[in-house]
Amino acid sequence: MLSFSRKNGSNDMSDKNTANAMWGGRFAAGPDAIMEAINASIGYDKRMARQDIEGSRAHAAMLAARGIISDSDATAIREGLLTVLSEIEDGTFEYSTALEDIHMNVESRLKELIGEPAGRLHTGRSRNDQVATDFKLWVRDQMDAAVTGLEALMSALLGQAEAGADTVMPGFTHLQVAQPVTWGHHMMAYVEMFARDRSRFADARVRMNESPLGAAALAGTAYPIDRDMTAQALGFDRPCANSLDGVSDRDFALEFLGAASLCATHLSRLAEELVIWSSVQFGFVQISDRFSTGSSIMPQKKNPDAAELIRAKVGRINGALMALLTIMKGLPLAYSKDMQEDKEQVFDAADSLMLALAAMTGMIADVTPDKGALRQAAATGFSTATDLADWLVRSLNMPFRDAHHVTGALVKMAEDAGCDLHELSLADMQSVEPQISAGVFDVLGVDNSVGSRVSYGGTAPAQVRAQIARWRKVLS
Ligand code: ARG
Repeated sequence: MLSFSRKNGSNDMSDKNTANAMWGGRFAAGPDAIMEAINASIGYDKRMARQDIEGSRAHAAMLAARGIISDSDATAIREGLLTVLSEIEDGTFEYSTALEDIHMNVESRLKELIGEPAGRLHTGRSRNDQVATDFKLWVRDQMDAAVTGLEALMSALLGQAEAGADTVMPGFTHLQVAQPVTWGHHMMAYVEMFARDRSRFADARVRMNESPLGAAALAGTAYPIDRDMTAQALGFDRPCANSLDGVSDRDFALEFLGAASLCATHLSRLAEELVIWSSVQFGFVQISDRFSTGSSIMPQKKNPDAAELIRAKVGRINGALMALLTIMKGLPLAYSKDMQEDKEQVFDAADSLMLALAAMTGMIADVTPDKGALRQAAATGFSTATDLADWLVRSLNMPFRDAHHVTGALVKMAEDAGCDLHELSLADMQSVEPQISAGVFDVLGVDNSVGSRVSYGGTAPAQVRAQIARWRKVLS
């Protein structure tokens, strides 16, 4: 009955009535095929193989250090686990659905390799603290990868900002031309956003870095284990202080997904701008061939597919966040099998986020702003009307509300004449406000407009360059 083979899958009739070798002591019969199908997580949790083996190796070393198992058993376990890892890495490991998950697949193979000592590995722990530990280690790696990916993207944006610190472009509100800004300023807005994402991942990492290992099934264990030792071996700051919380907490995964959702939201906004800017109608940028695709029917087309897919990834990532929040909602303490549904969401979201970050970094590094088109567009739509109103306030000591009104009348006049503000004659202007003098023309150009916005965080090239220098220092 217990001669259950790891290599037999669920469709092997000889297994049908065979109880599980890992926990089948009280079972007379093996699971129904559907039971096995709904229960198994090996199809996806094999991604945590490295973390599982790392955790088990730390656990075995601790058991020996505390005299719970012998040194020779611990050595056999730890070396055997390295063999299992190499089999997994070189693709020769045979996964079994009947063994449910990565934890039992690894342990079962270990048993085949080293025999009896393998059965001592699970002393003083449970799959509940084991899976929490493995998953935390996996998510922690992804938090680090997100930080690295964000830093690469920020560097690419800084490169664009530096090259275009005084490249004038239209700034928009309501996607209507509002005031001239610089390309550098626009790029640096995203640096600020991605910097917040970076700090969210880094911050969540600090909070999550407590080891569940040794919480055992839920209540802790009677064995004299050393939770500090395993925590330290696995790079955790300390063990979780409550064993019930240790096995039932998935906040770290939710925080990862929360930070990923917000980051993906930021990516989608930049992606959307690239889609709009690269259209023939806008003509603001050229996305490189390396990050574009053609059309199979329209030979002239160059499509911003990467930007569109980045824009769409936020849908999957937000979906994963909603899914896991919903899975966790209302779960009583401590472990419930519901929590096995955490992994696919996080795996997919992490894959999507890393790919989106890498694609955006490549696109930003390669994108070419059309400086002429940007400048031309910056001057349209009466974008320096606010500069005119400000001039009236400063030069004529006019209250801003009155200046707003006078400027509005001048915009109307220009609009009726089909010209821009700076193309009105001084006499035209004086017909609306007699005190206006020729000095007004100095503020109507886009360069003057941009250069005048020297307030902290403003669009003036000097301000933008100061921000670039600050971020360069932070990232170096
Ligand atoms: N595969 C399981 C999961 O991902 C491991 C924990 C199983 N624990 C249990 N008590 N059945 O959650």
